[in-house]
Order: sequence, then C-alpha cells, then structure tokens
Amino acid sequence: MRRILVTSALPNANGAIHLGHLFEHILTDIWVRFQRMMGNECYYVCADDAHGTATMLAAERLGTTPEAMIESLREEHADDFRRFLVEHDNYYSTHSPENEQYTREIYQRLAADGRTFTADVEQLYDPERKLFLADRFVKGNCPRCGHDDQYGDNCQECGATYDATDLGNPRSLLSDATPELRSSDHYFFDLAQFTDFLKDWTATDAVQPEVTNKLAEWLTGGLKAWDISRDGPYFGFTIPDTTEKYFYVWMDAPVGYMASFKNLCDRTRGLDFDDFWRADSKGEVHHFIGKDIINFHCLFWPAVLHGAGYRTPTKVHTHGFITVDGVQMSKSRGTFINAGTYLEHLDPEYLRYYFATKLSANTDDVDIQLDDFVQRVNSDLVGKVVNIASRCAGFIHRGFDGVLAEGVHDEELWAAVSGARRQLADLYERGDVGRAVRQITALADRTNQYIAEYEPWKHGNDPERRDEVQGVCSLGINVFRALVIYLKPIVPAMAAKAEAFLRVEPLAWEDAGEPLVAHEIERFKPLFTRIDRKDVDKVVAATVAEAESEAAEDEGSAEVSIDDFGKIDLRIAKVIDAKFVDGADKLLELRLDLGDTSRTVFAGVREAYDPDTLVDRLVVVVANLAPRKMRFGTSEGMVLAAGPGGEDIFLVSPDAGAEPGMRVT
Ligand code: 2FM
Ligand code: ZN
Repeated sequence: MRRILVTSALPNANGAIHLGHLFEHILTDIWVRFQRMMGNECYYVCADDAHGTATMLAAERLGTTPEAMIESLREEHADDFRRFLVEHDNYYSTHSPENEQYTREIYQRLAADGRTFTADVEQLYDPERKLFLADRFVKGNCPRCGHDDQYGDNCQECGATYDATDLGNPRSLLSDATPELRSSDHYFFDLAQFTDFLKDWTATDAVQPEVTNKLAEWLTGGLKAWDISRDGPYFGFTIPDTTEKYFYVWMDAPVGYMASFKNLCDRTRGLDFDDFWRADSKGEVHHFIGKDIINFHCLFWPAVLHGAGYRTPTKVHTHGFITVDGVQMSKSRGTFINAGTYLEHLDPEYLRYYFATKLSANTDDVDIQLDDFVQRVNSDLVGKVVNIASRCAGFIHRGFDGVLAEGVHDEELWAAVSGARRQLADLYERGDVGRAVRQITALADRTNQYIAEYEPWKHGNDPERRDEVQGVCSLGINVFRALVIYLKPIVPAMAAKAEAFLRVEPLAWEDAGEPLVAHEIERFKPLFTRIDRKDVDKVVAATVAEAESEAAEDEGSAEVSIDDFGKIDLRIAKVIDAKFVDGADKLLELRLDLGDTSRTVFAGVREAYDPDTLVDRLVVVVANLAPRKMRFGTSEGMVLAAGPGGEDIFLVSPDAGAEPGMRVT
C-alpha cells in the first residue's frame, strides 16, 4: 500500500471560489478518490493563502481586520469545495501557528547553511500611505514605448517587462501620490546555489516532460536570487531577529502545505508528520498546480525543501488554464462563474463529470463549452451509462424477484469490461482521465448494443427465453456496476446511489474483477437527471448580474463633477404594468409612463416586490440611459432603488404631488 499526501494550490484569501479553482480541486479530488479506491492511504490537504499586502488593504477597505476577513473567507471556501464533493482532509489557513513555526525554522536552517543573504533594494514608496509599493499598486509610462497607465512590471501595449522604478511619471494606485525612491534591506534566498540539484531534479519524472523543457530554459538562462522579504506594514510573519521585515507571501505559502498536514496529524491518531516530510521518507507528496506557478513549485520549493533538509515532492502535476467557449473566463460574458452561483441552479456532479471528460496528462489549456457540457452529461452519462441500469432492472424485478442470474451470459463482453480496470487505473494514475472516460463510454455503447441485440423487452413472456432475458439483463447490471466503479472517483454521489440500488458495500476498484451473481438488487430509481439547458442560462445570467452590480458598486464610490451629474436625466415615472421575466430570477419587466412617452425597463427587484403591487406606483427612472439589449428584450432606462440586493432592495419613490415626466433635480 502506498502512503500519499496530496495538495492543490492554495486559493488566495481575497475572493470567491470560481470555475478555475473548481477545475483544479476537482481534478485533484478525482485523483485522491481513485487512490483511495485502489486501497492506498491517501491524505488531501489544502488551505487559504492568507498573507500579503492585498489582504491587508482588502480588510482595510471592508473596515475589518485581516484575521476576521480571512477566517470568514476560509469558511466560505471550505464550504464551497465541500458542496462540490471535494474531500479535503483539512482546509486550513497559511496564517496559522504551525505555518509560522515551519516557515521560521526553514528560514533559519537555510540562513545557518549560508543559503541566504541580505542586500539593499531600491523601491517605490508611497509617502502618504507609508508603505512600499508592490508592482501592481503603481502605474506610469512604459519605459519602452511611453504608453501611459501601465503597471509596474509590464506594459500591456508593447509587452515590455521592467522594474517599477523605471516607469515614467509613476503614481501610487493607493493614494494617487507620486512615489519616492527609497532603499531598504531585503533578505534573499540564493537559488543559484541549487542549480545543479535542480537540473537533476527537474529531469526526473517528478514533473511532466513539457514542464522539464520550460524549466530548462530558466535553468540555462541562470537563476536569480529570490527576494523573500517585504517591509512592513505587511500582513504576514516577521523574519526571525528583525522587526518590520516580513516573509514574502510566496515564501510561506507552500510551507502552508506542510502546516495544514501538521495540523491534521495533530488531530489524527497514528498519523506522523515525519513519515511524509523527512528527507528519506517513503511516503509520497503530490502537488497539483496550474502552469502559472511552475517556477514556485518546481524551482523555489524543491530547492527550499532540499536546502532545509526535507524531502522534495514526489510529483508536481501541472494543468493548463480554463477557457470558456474559446476565450478567457469573463464576468461580462457571464462565464466567470462562482461556485455559489453555479450551485444555485445546477448539480455539482454535472461539472465534475464534464471536467473529467476534459482532463489530460499534459498542460494544454482546457476549453469548456456550455453546449458540450449539456450534451456530454445528458447523452453520455445519463443516456449511455445510467441507461443500462434503467433498461435492465425492470426485467430482473418483473421476472426474477430482483435476483441476478447465477452465471455470466456473455463471457467476452464481461472480460472486456472487467479487464479494462488495469488500463483505466493506469490512465487515472497518469491524470489522463478524459481518455478513461472515453473508454468507459465506449464500453457503455457496446453494452447497450448487446442489450439491443437480444431485445429482452420482446421476450419477457416467452418461457423458452427466460434464462436468456435474466442472463442478458444481469450482465447489463454487472457492466453498469463495473462502470460505476470506474466513474466513482468522478461522480461519488451518483455512485453511492448506485451502491444502494445494487445493495452492495462501498465499491473498491478491484470489485470490478468479479461479477455479482445470484444477488438481489433494489428496484431502480433514477440516479441522475438530465441537465436542463435553461438552468445553464440562469447561471450565466446570474453571473452577468453579479458583474453589473459589482461594477455599479465600484463606480458608486468614484467622484463625479456637477457637470457629469447634470448629464443624467432623472424623471418621475408611473408603473403601468409589471410582470415576471421567464428565465430571469432577479428581474421584473416594468412598463413605465413618463408623461409624454412610455417605455420598458428591466429592473432587478423581483425578489423584493410582487409585480401586482407595483402597478400605479411612482418611481424615479434614469431616462437618458442608452438602451441596453438583454437576453429578454431591450431595457430603455434604469429604475432607482437602494439596498444590497435580493429581498433587501427598496425602490425610490417621490412624495405625493409628483407627476410622471417631472424632472428630478
Ligand atoms: O496562485 C495562487 O493563487 C497562490 N495563492 C497559490 C499558492 S500555492 C502554494 F504554494 F501555496
Ligand atoms: Zn510599452
């Protein structure tokens, strides 16, 4: 039995869990569940990545402390993953005592061994906010093409990369002040000392071949020392023997893997941290990451571990980015979908299954297509796999008291299905899950054809063919059981329902080696319903609505001139008709009388108002807003309302005496 520790990259504690996170955690969870079904001892830990300037500033904006903010996000993130059936054994935080202890210890070992040094660094400093500015908090003119409004690390116009100190006319995005150049002492990890070690390590199968090639470019180009410190104020851990010097967030983030595991060990009898992390450990450590963070996981992290006397990762599994319908996820297109928004309308296993069909062992980007999503789940999972059980179970109950045949009706078919478990296991192990799913679907096709050939529905009442009907349908049920085993890491809840239907204990991988014979099963109940495309549209519409309200909130705080304000034509209007909008949970369609004209406006007040109560009510409308085409029609204005949204939204109405068409000043 293998002993395996698995991690996914730690999500940042600064926003909601979205499709991108789900992709990574679901693909990791599939691998973990597969290992457990193989009988291996497998632990899966994760955490929120809590530190950094961004956390500090976000908490400040929310009027709370970083500690309170990260804890509430951590709970939200853990809950989102749980609802997607991602089974972390521990979902911790990098802001933990264990992480502080290991980060400091690792640093002290590296420092004692001459692996670190200090050097003066000149950086831009915001004199108003009194802090050094990270690259993304400063903008100015590109030093190469001169284009304005460019961030401190690279130019969106000409692609140049540079230091923030090279920007022309720099300004702080935090205060708008002109930054000053200041120098301070920084702490460095001398990565170049590990060049030979890394050349060897990155050439092993600890990384995928294309990752080895990418890393070789960096390794031959020469490794630079890595700046692992930040000046205060900063939300993080202080560096030993300093005040106001903090570990850079990327120093303690991967140590968070160890810390989360240590926290699990302390709560789990018999689980020993050293068994997995000491230099000569026989346990395995597998990290699952996206290709944007290869350098941290395949250069810095193994070097840091090796330098500090710990084991290096057994394997770093790198995946590509997600695109939706061929382009990057986008809020305005409604494809930057948050976990919570998805779950309001769709079953998590639809997404788990669809992601699984897309998984490969390489780092290519993965395109999600919404039509294909509906199609794959409905026609393959429901139409092919589940269909086998639903067509066979009835015959077993009608003619045979729910008891399966004593033998196997078609040895060749069974041998193909049962024998596939070796190759499918190899594919899962390598992460080539999409190929595994295609093979599983092909076995389902073959079995459906086999059932169709014998047409049991025609022979149910023929005494001479009784045995054949029982044999064919029993084999159908046995194939279904094997396919459920092969799909269980992907759709565990469906598998649990199938286990109840089959009246079996939780299925393990090797159970596919033996058929169920003379075994009584339950009556069939639908295990999985088809996706309704309308529900996918609802997720997209809800995501667009979220983006719009976020944009409105952002704009809400910006200052406008009196001239700008004067451009807005606010009018009193009377609601003459109000109705629900099919397929939009949040909208009402309002017909408004503006005195000399009338028009249609879609308003996001459905959860707060019954349409009938709005008729004849006076409201305030932005009358000169450019018409906006929506999926349901064109909205010719905007009705003013206050409040956070949902049920708590309150229409703004004038005092008695106001008339439709009056200008609001
Ligand atoms: O890229 C990110 O979102 C980081 N928070 C990942 C950290 S992974 C690990 F090193 F902690
Ligand atoms: Zn430029």
